Amino acid sequence: MNYKDALQHPIFKIISQSSKELDQESYVIGGFVRDFMLQRGLPKDIDIVTVGDGIKLAKQVSRNLPEKPKVQVFKTYGTAMLHHEGTEIEFVGARKESYSENSRNPEVENGTLEDDQNRRDFTINALALNLNKDHFGELLDPFNGIQDLKNKIIRTPLNPDITYSDDPLRMMRAIRFSTQLQFNIEDTSLEAISKNSHRIKIITNERIVVELNKILESEKPSVGFILLEKTGLLDYILPELTVLKGIDEIEGQRHKDNFYHTLEVVDNISKSTDNLWLRWAALLHDIGKAPTKKFNKKVGWTFHGHEFEGSKMVYHLFKRLKMPLNDSMKFVQKMVFMSSRPIVLANDEVTDSAVRRLVFDAGDYVDDLMTLCEADITTKNPKKFNKYHNNFKIVREKIIEVEERDHIRNFQPPISGEVIMGTFNLKPSKEIGIIKEAIKEAILEGEIPNDYEAAYQLMLKEGKRLGLIVNNHN
Ligand code: CTP
Repeated sequence: MNYKDALQHPIFKIISQSSKELDQESYVIGGFVRDFMLQRGLPKDIDIVTVGDGIKLAKQVSRNLPEKPKVQVFKTYGTAMLHHEGTEIEFVGARKESYSENSRNPEVENGTLEDDQNRRDFTINALALNLNKDHFGELLDPFNGIQDLKNKIIRTPLNPDITYSDDPLRMMRAIRFSTQLQFNIEDTSLEAISKNSHRIKIITNERIVVELNKILESEKPSVGFILLEKTGLLDYILPELTVLKGIDEIEGQRHKDNFYHTLEVVDNISKSTDNLWLRWAALLHDIGKAPTKKFNKKVGWTFHGHEFEGSKMVYHLFKRLKMPLNDSMKFVQKMVFMSSRPIVLANDEVTDSAVRRLVFDAGDYVDDLMTLCEADITTKNPKKFNKYHNNFKIVREKIIEVEERDHIRNFQPPISGEVIMGTFNLKPSKEIGIIKEAIKEAILEGEIPNDYEAAYQLMLKEGKRLGLIVNNHN
């Protein structure tokens, strides 16, 4: 078969020509070929394998490009990379690799194209297109990767024990591709992942998180998390989630399986948002339930304070996985912390003051919080399902209403501490805090509007109650 269509971009002719000049054979391999065959659109990254020196080829290609892009060399890996028209092109010399048991760092030997294809992760990633002049566009598919693409199968070129052992991250990659592409992992491969799952321990957290994020960014992330759990990988990566699995029963009282509930919430939220951090919030929203779970004869199972506990756990989890401890982490914490607030509202009649308090506490995140809470409705009772959704609709409408009228979002006190101090001739003291709190409470309760005049009058009243005297020189 000839796949010249995949190679229409002029860069491939330039790589071909450069290879000829160095008397090296070159091929485009990996994700680019796979995604072209799957008609996933032309990918941003191009991987080139050459029988010979990859770094030399990268430099030659750069010389032949009008803009002479900078070549970044990774000496330890014998690879080089350059950017051309927004595409990242990576060059590597074909090699045989053997990995030692406890490290990711391979011992590298030069090899043939076939050697190189052998050492790749999956048959669908080992597809190569010939860039050499006489065979330009010809497919090299020694492991029937095309058949696997058609049958939607993830399979390793070699015995899966060897492929996964060479780089244990591939166990996660298998699950990630399976989730992204909706492919099945071949049985022996899946067994090998279960058998080798402990070896994920030698992989850096940064690389693990890349795969976790890709699973979370998929259309139906639960597919990946169920596989991670089944193979035992999740125990090593996110034990906070696996302990949520299972249903306890005492005296006929049961609670729901919070692991599968969580996955349902993640799938739900993925239908409404592409925001990765909101998806993380959905994944972690119930992690505080394991440490707070108690049984009480009268009320059954309780998880008091799980939102607070969960939000503290978010920090430790992010830290352990070397994820950023920045605003994204704080956002996830806040979502977890507030994750039960709207549902309390939705159980009762929705009052203005409750909505004002919600907007006050959630600030700019209030819409995301509503999205999370809507996704959290997984009840199989259609009556309850409709009731909660209807109430959330009312909450959303009221949020807009209250916003237009009261401007509670990013609340700024209408009366400043300086005004209070000036009015009563006070030095900084606790009275100022008391008055400010009273004004805030009155606004949130709807007793006074959120404006200067009303707040000023209330300040005078509160001052009088506290026995303060108005400074007439003011
Ligand atoms: N590869 C591998 N083992 C790994 C990582 C990568 O064998 N642990 C090989 C595969 O042949 C893969 C190629 O290197 O196709 C490029 O890897 P990468 O850019 O990480 O992935 P892609 O397959 O391009 O897919 P994606 O961009 O979706 O990550």
